[in-house]
Amino acid sequence: MNIPEFELNDGTSLPAIGFGTVQLKGYSGALTIAEAIRNGYRFIDTAYNYENEGAVGKAIELSGLRRNELYIESKLPGRYHSYDDAMTALQESLLRANLEYFDLYIIHWPNPNEGKYIEAWRALIEAQKLGLVKTIGVSNFLPQHIDHLVAKTGVRPAVNQIEMHPRFNQAVQREYHDKEGILTTAWSPLGRARYLAEFDEMQDMAKKYDVNIGQLILRWHYQHGVVTIPRSSNAARQSGNLNIFDFEITREDMEAVDGLSVPGGRIDGLDPAVYEEF
Ligand SMILES: NC(=O)c1ccc[n+]([C@@H]2O[C@H](COP(=O)([O-])OP(=O)(O)OC[C@H]3O[C@@H](n4cnc5c(N)ncnc54)[C@H](OP(=O)(O)O)[C@@H]3O)[C@@H](O)[C@H]2O)c1
Repeated sequence: MNIPEFELNDGTSLPAIGFGTVQLKGYSGALTIAEAIRNGYRFIDTAYNYENEGAVGKAIELSGLRRNELYIESKLPGRYHSYDDAMTALQESLLRANLEYFDLYIIHWPNPNEGKYIEAWRALIEAQKLGLVKTIGVSNFLPQHIDHLVAKTGVRPAVNQIEMHPRFNQAVQREYHDKEGILTTAWSPLGRARYLAEFDEMQDMAKKYDVNIGQLILRWHYQHGVVTIPRSSNAARQSGNLNIFDFEITREDMEAVDGLSVPGGRIDGLDPAVYEEF
């Protein structure tokens, strides 16, 4: 399977679709992730807080692929934003996953009231110099948080992983990313499948393109230049979610999907300006 890649501002690139792993833990999690790799995924998204970096490491081992054939991402939790803690957490994540480096390592949440994300970012910059991670980025950062990072360190994140799905299309944040040369990755790209049945317009549109609604949504992200990391424990849906590169949504239909977004459309209302996760 040939998955297109998007260029990053540090000269590397990122597959347009990866595999989300939240809740996929233990032996069954490792088997599900290994199945996803067998079904064609080469980019795996994990996090310290998912408590499954071990399962990801096991899946990598089961895949039999070489390290440089895979693209592995993990995330720094909010409780380890101090410089020394961030360095140790990153190393601990690598040990859990049985890896020598991450392709991408990002700060999971800015936790602005704690005020330590600059310190965490300095640790990531150093970890990149040490070769523990190839690309560094952030997640759930609002424009003011990124402006602050750049003002304090001069180093711009390569990616920002944010909540994005048809109910919350993040048009303003994406415009900022595009202006700053930061790639958008969408978490919960399918809105955790919570609202799929409610979107009659998209059900009809999916029929027209002869795809399922998941494929239509993932293609919509792709045409917006956004990387997605859909999760599925179902082999057929895993494969289907990768199979979105042989049709094109018209401009009119793209705008129709854009129009489904609502201001309070976040799945659980997690606004990074106030929400903090440790
Ligand atoms: N940075 C952050 O703060 C953050 C926050 C949340 C998530 N994430 C990352 O983003 C990843 C993806 O988000 P997510 O797991 O929350 O949600 P998601 O990928 O939007 O949705 C997953 C759900 O959709 C179902 N599904 C998958 N493909 C489908 C299809 N084609 N049609 C219908 N249903 C489908 C899955 O069920 P089945 O398993 O039954 O297929 C599962 O219940 C996570 O796994 C995690 O890696 C990051």
